[in-house]
Amino acid sequence: MALISLLVFVYTALRYDVAATSPHSQPVEWVLSEGMQHSVRTHAAELEVPEGIDLRDASLADKAIGHYSVACATCHGAPGESRAPWMVMYPEPRALTDAAVVNAWSDRELYWIIKHGIKDTGMIALGPTHSEGDLWAVTAFVRQLPDMSPDRYRALRARYQQNAAAAGHAEHRH
Ligand code: HEC
Repeated sequence: MALISLLVFVYTALRYDVAATSPHSQPVEWVLSEGMQHSVRTHAAELEVPEGIDLRDASLADKAIGHYSVACATCHGAPGESRAPWMVMYPEPRALTDAAVVNAWSDRELYWIIKHGIKDTGMIALGPTHSEGDLWAVTAFVRQLPDMSPDRYRALRARYQQNAAAAGHAEHRH
């Protein structure tokens, strides 16, 4: 009997449409999204924002412009810019310029998501390759993103790109 249930389960799973272009049925969608939120909230509850870190501090967020513009904007968009049109995936990455999306998460929940990523969604984890300082800077950046003007975003990115180009030239001289 157990074997039959197992076979039915596997057969159903194989017939399930895994295409990135076809949304889950509503109950499946609900279970996945509730499960994701619950998991993030439970794990993040054990964290504290370290003393001395202020996620509303603009100079902390500024440090993350390189990370955000290179590693996040293609999927999540940026002030004045939508995500890359070829970034077709499901679940869809939401616009982090939208206050309703960002404010649904507390500071430590945002940090947790950025550090660990979200399994089976395409959301990347910065934890293994970034310092704690960088992780909190990216968290501050996301926290402030809904209030950032397109002009400010573009100015920060232009400055970052100039510095990166200058650093590249300096390296070539060695
Ligand atoms: C390859 C695409 C991709 C990249 C790159 C990416 N993300 Fe995500 N992100 C996702 C997806 C997909 C989700 C989950 C959406 C869902 O489950 O509904 C997500 C979820 C999130 C969330 C939770 C918001 C919400 O409620 O949906 C945050 C915050 C976030 N990402 C921040 C970032 C940051 C910061 C970066 C850059 C370091 C980044 N992401 C890079 C695809 C991406």
